[in-house]
Amino acid sequence: MKFFIDTANIEEIKQALSWGVLDGVTTNPSLIAKEEKPFNEVVQEICKCVPGPVSLETVATTTEQMIIDGKELAKIADNVVVKLPTCLEALQATKVLAKDGIRVNMTLCFSPLQGLLAAKAGAAYISPFVGRLDDIGQNGMELISQLTQIYENYGFETEVLVASIRNPIHVLEAALMGADVATIPFRVMEQFIKHPLTDRGIETFLNDSKKVPAA
Ligand code: G3P
Repeated sequence: MKFFIDTANIEEIKQALSWGVLDGVTTNPSLIAKEEKPFNEVVQEICKCVPGPVSLETVATTTEQMIIDGKELAKIADNVVVKLPTCLEALQATKVLAKDGIRVNMTLCFSPLQGLLAAKAGAAYISPFVGRLDDIGQNGMELISQLTQIYENYGFETEVLVASIRNPIHVLEAALMGADVATIPFRVMEQFIKHPLTDRGIETFLNDSKKVPAA
């Protein structure tokens, strides 16, 4: 399972990279806006320091503009993945970009049939938003189960990239369901490396090691 970090903050990205388990980055317009810096400045720095895929989103609303923007975004660096919303206009754009060898991450996916269409269009990744479904009283992880099943049934290569993750349980369930990728906010990543029993165990071993007589 691949771990991406869901942020445009370079300090968070560098710290997660230093842990040695980070495979890529996802951004969106809201995350970029939080950085209060010009788009190009933010994304160029991210693409430079991350060896894996970096998803950059367009806010175009027509197929033509999505294709133009997608091609421009792909020029920024070899590791750019173009993020397009899972809507009708983006299906054709995904097909065209994929044909040109540009990887597309179809985002804002909230139903299994949207995911089936994304795979048929040739998306490299589908991003189902589990947290936002939970927020409206629907079961976000059920969507992951359905998507992994559908892709397996037909041998689609589109990777299920679990997004809108709010807590470690989302990551655990995604792993149990065999999702390809989880894109995780920094605070959630920090949460699941920690366990109080691990901390207590380290302390006990350290104290006990001091009681071992010197040779
Ligand atoms: O990057 C897209 C997605 O992960 C956003 O999550 O928390 O805004 O629903 P959230």
